[in-house]
This record gives sequence, structure tokens and C-alpha cells, in this order.
Amino acid sequence: MKPRALLFDAYGTLFDVHSVVPKAEFAELSKLWRQKQLEYTWLRSLMDRYVDFWDITHAALLSAAGQLQIRLTDTQRDALMQAYLAPAAFPDAKPALEALRGFAPLAILSNGSPRMLEAMIAHNAFESYFAAVISADRVKIYKPSPRVYALGPETLGIPASEILFVSSNVWDAAGAKAFGYRVCWCNRSSSPPDPPDFTPDLTVQSLEEIPALFC
Ligand code: LAC
Repeated sequence: MKPRALLFDAYGTLFDVHSVVPKAEFAELSKLWRQKQLEYTWLRSLMDRYVDFWDITHAALLSAAGQLQIRLTDTQRDALMQAYLAPAAFPDAKPALEALRGFAPLAILSNGSPRMLEAMIAHNAFESYFAAVISADRVKIYKPSPRVYALGPETLGIPASEILFVSSNVWDAAGAKAFGYRVCWCNRSSSPPDPPDFTPDLTVQSLEEIPALFC
């Protein structure tokens, strides 16, 4: 069935968080930074102690660098944070969005703060693709809280079951499915589903496969 809208996750799905830390010797830092960032979103959501995604990302960077005993100067830390406003899009994102243009409204639902999302979308010149860019900041809690997923149908005026939610973050795809979306997991690394009992409606290895499923 043709979805009435497509709702994309941002970090890790359209935009590559690891492009922020380009040097190979910092690959471990990049990995742990992302891991701590997600961990802090979950912790703060469970504790009901919201701070925005910029503050989460900053705290995660300090924690990851500390854990790996990497001494970042203030200048290096500020440069990494600024780079987080301009991560590169994955190579398959633009062709997929281009092919889907006009097929159905496209939107983003992300943990990112409005300022971060705006900067990242502008940096990649993606503004014209999206009918809506929705931030979890509106409800002051993070995915996979159903309160965040509820923003999609609310904003688009379309039931979740008629929206295709696209994410490469398997936990996010699972959260969206639990909420009631149709879900497409973009599994670029051919990983097994985790949690193992998660069954997406669709699985692709590249966003570029999505238009051919419907168009
Ligand atoms: C986001 C995180 C989950 O963009 O990647 O919401």
C-alpha cells in the first residue's frame, strides 16, 4: 500500500554523525560519543530530566573523551560541537529524497533540537524536500517515547498506520513500530535485528531502494 507520507529519522539515517569526527584516529571517540549521546537521551527521558539535544551531545562528548583519556582543548571541543551542526548527508539520502519528491509529503522526526536540525538541513541544502521538520524538543522527551512518535500524525494530520517511518537506528525503528507506524529499517550494515524479535514492515540496505518500492 502506498504510504500517505514518509517520516525520516535524521542522525544516522539521513545524516552521518561519524562525518563530524573525520580523523581516523578519532574513530573510537566518534563511536563512543554517539553511544553516550543516545544513552543520555534514554536516561534523561526515564528520569524526566530533559535538556535539549545540544546539551546532551556536549555532555556525551566530554564523557566519551574522558573515558578514552583523550584530552581535548577547549578549541578542539568547540570545533567538534560546531561540526555537529553540519554533518554530511549519507550518499544515498539526496538521490532518494529527489526520487520521492512529489510522491508523498516527506518530513523529519528527530531528537535534534530545532536549531541543530535547521543548521544541518541548510548545510546539506535539503530544505526544499521537507513539508515538516519535527523536533522531540516540542514534548521535552526523547525517542522511543510514544509522546515523540505521536508528533508525526499530529503534525501531518495522517494516522501513523498510513505513514512510513524510515530509520537506520534499529531501536528507533522498533519504537516507531511499537507506536503504530509502518516502518522501513534502512539496514546499511546488514546487521541482525536488535531486539531480535523486531520485525520491520520493510527492510532496505540503501535509502535509494525506497522509491522503487512505491513509485
Ligand atoms: C534522531 C536520532 C535518533 O535523529 O538519530 O532522532
